[in-house]
Amino acid sequence: MTMDLRATITGTTHIVGVWGDPVAHSLSPLIHNAAFGKAGLHWVYVPFRVAPEALPEAVAGLRAMQLHGVNVTVPHKVAICSHLDELSESARLIGAVNTVVNKNGRLVGHNTDGDGFVHSLRVDAGFDPRGRNILLLGAGGAARAIGVALALAGSATVDVANRTWHRAQHLSSHLQPLGSASKPLRLDDLTPDTTYGYDAVVHTSSWGMTPDDDVPPLLAPEAMHKHMLIADIVYTPRHTTLLRQAEKKGLATLPGLGMLVHQAALAYTLWTGHDAPVDMMLSVLKAELDRRKEG
Ligand code: ATR
Repeated sequence: MTMDLRATITGTTHIVGVWGDPVAHSLSPLIHNAAFGKAGLHWVYVPFRVAPEALPEAVAGLRAMQLHGVNVTVPHKVAICSHLDELSESARLIGAVNTVVNKNGRLVGHNTDGDGFVHSLRVDAGFDPRGRNILLLGAGGAARAIGVALALAGSATVDVANRTWHRAQHLSSHLQPLGSASKPLRLDDLTPDTTYGYDAVVHTSSWGMTPDDDVPPLLAPEAMHKHMLIADIVYTPRHTTLLRQAEKKGLATLPGLGMLVHQAALAYTLWTGHDAPVDMMLSVLKAELDRRKEG
């Protein structure tokens, strides 16, 4: 039996939430409220649909109401940066924020997407990116967050392969000063020879996501090698064609659900100061995704 969350809200309850447009399909309220409930914390997490032009007013409202923080998602991640008082190092380098913390009236922007991925790599795949050679597939916002986090985690190489060449070039030149070697590649450049040197390949685009999930992956099976880890940030379906082909060849794989859970766990810790119940967050998420698939 689940308890009615409303019955636990009192005059001292802390409020956090997520701003997006659209926001109705966000899984974050479910994950965070389950975690707050499990930990017995007096916190609630609420979705707010905030239109792009209303963002400055929403930030003013957050300050006025002294909310403890918010997650922000599409289309606000870049736009919100200029409305905050301070950015963490990774948020500044990524140029995007997904978590705002209200530190006694000072709004601090963080980005837990890239670090969430790196945590998932370490915890779920047992893969330490320090000193390793990594190839990103895609050069959008998710690739940028992951690329910056991998560079800050000490990866030796973070190369970027993308359909649109100038975006690969742009991200690669952004990563170069961060301490990892980085070069741009075309997707057509990915042959068995050119991919042999990578320890991990990370797919960061939406290619292969439900409902268009029966598509050939951006990395062909011939360009996958036994020693590689193949990671996909897509989590619907849970086992993308990229992961299935990699598994068929006997490679280690990392599904996208881990990044989703760990970015939430990091936000939870930034707000509450407590470790997040990561395993429980993951099982709640799996159950919800199964329910949506059946529904
Ligand atoms: P996000 O912020 O979610 O990363 P984005 O900034 O729109 O989204 O970036 C999407 C990424 O997926 C890009 O790298 C994009 O490639 P292009 O720069 O060439 O557009 C990639 N992508 C999307 N659809 C693709 C497809 N059909 N084939 C190859 N790459 C694709």
